[in-house]
Amino acid sequence: MTSYLTGFGNHFATEAIPGALPVGRNSPQRPAFGLYAEQLSGTAFTMARAENRRSWLYRLRPSAAHPPYTLVADPAADRGLPASPNRLRWDPRALPHAATTFVDSLSTMLWNGDPEAHNGVTLSTYAATASMDRQVFFSADGELLIIPEQGGLTLHTELGVIAIDPLEIAIIPRGVRFRVVLTGDAARGYVAENHGAPFRLPDLGPIGSNGLANPRDFESPVAWFEDRDEPFEVIQKFGGKLWSTTLDHSPLDVVAWHGNLTPVKYDLRRFNTLGTVSYDHPDPSIFTVLTSPSDMPGRANADFVIFPPRWMVAEDTFRPPWFHRNLMSEAMGLITGAYDAKAGGFAPGALSLHNMMSAHGPDVASWQGATDAALAPHKIDGTMAFMVESCWPYRVTDSALAAAQPDYDGVWGAFPKAIVPK
Ligand code: FE2
Repeated sequence: MTSYLTGFGNHFATEAIPGALPVGRNSPQRPAFGLYAEQLSGTAFTMARAENRRSWLYRLRPSAAHPPYTLVADPAADRGLPASPNRLRWDPRALPHAATTFVDSLSTMLWNGDPEAHNGVTLSTYAATASMDRQVFFSADGELLIIPEQGGLTLHTELGVIAIDPLEIAIIPRGVRFRVVLTGDAARGYVAENHGAPFRLPDLGPIGSNGLANPRDFESPVAWFEDRDEPFEVIQKFGGKLWSTTLDHSPLDVVAWHGNLTPVKYDLRRFNTLGTVSYDHPDPSIFTVLTSPSDMPGRANADFVIFPPRWMVAEDTFRPPWFHRNLMSEAMGLITGAYDAKAGGFAPGALSLHNMMSAHGPDVASWQGATDAALAPHKIDGTMAFMVESCWPYRVTDSALAAAQPDYDGVWGAFPKAIVPK
């Protein structure tokens, strides 16, 4: 049974061995047991207090003790395409036949911004059939939002262990090293790498002091460490490229820590979904779980939005998401069930892209069904779709474009023309 500390962005203190955590100071002259004190900052030192994220780690060896990193993979060759207005959709990835770990299976589908400029988001999928063992991964380019669609994951991180199943998510902060262990034979899902400001809970405005994702439902790990003197590969993403080095020990050796920069998990079923009780489908921003603001207030670098089970009661209303053209660019995935604006072609594990100002909305069958429906209260159940919306248009990798469904545009190809009086 994994235990957790609850609350979003709280200042936690936890120790795996009693007495390991210094009291009253961060960096004593001689930390207990000869541990090494290290600060890990997720924001600039000078960030406003409410947005400042950092933790102090007390570990068996300093992280600084490592050989040089070697460049092992450069995905730039897969990123030559211009931003495109075309709508695209992908079927779920097949699971690999060969033993493949989470990190080796990461495949970039969509990207924007520039990690060196601290903006944008990269969306990848994973399809793993093996656990990582003497290998850890971290991104210097951003925090990682992990969205399982199939199979459970146990995340052994520097700050402790997080277990997640589909319908739960985890966030690994920028720089935090971790290993992914599969709880079953296979695991598949999505990873959104946020290069901008760390995800936070959205402001609630007139909604009030409760609702949407409630802070107490976010869970951080307690301190945990391993003492393993054997070769460990450390893979880091830096500047969009993968770099590797090998240590003679496990870097998951943090015996105690305190602070508010932590891995975190959240059960999407705890989302307090709000919607209309009169008419019209509200803007889907009502479904925002987490937001990474850009430099322009109100315009997100990345919003993580979900479409959970919910009652539909609106009167004289077209109830599914309406036709729209947006400033924000939408990457969408499906964790379970069906999405109410698409009658087919969008299975769990699938992905779609609707870029800035690209017209989209319900397909013909969904539109016809919702237009003809007798409007009784109706529960959309057994579903969980999500979006990672960004103010920057997504670019598609070469390999993703080659794997896209051939005629996604066709879902909007056969609407009857309205007939107005002459
Ligand atoms: Fe949309």
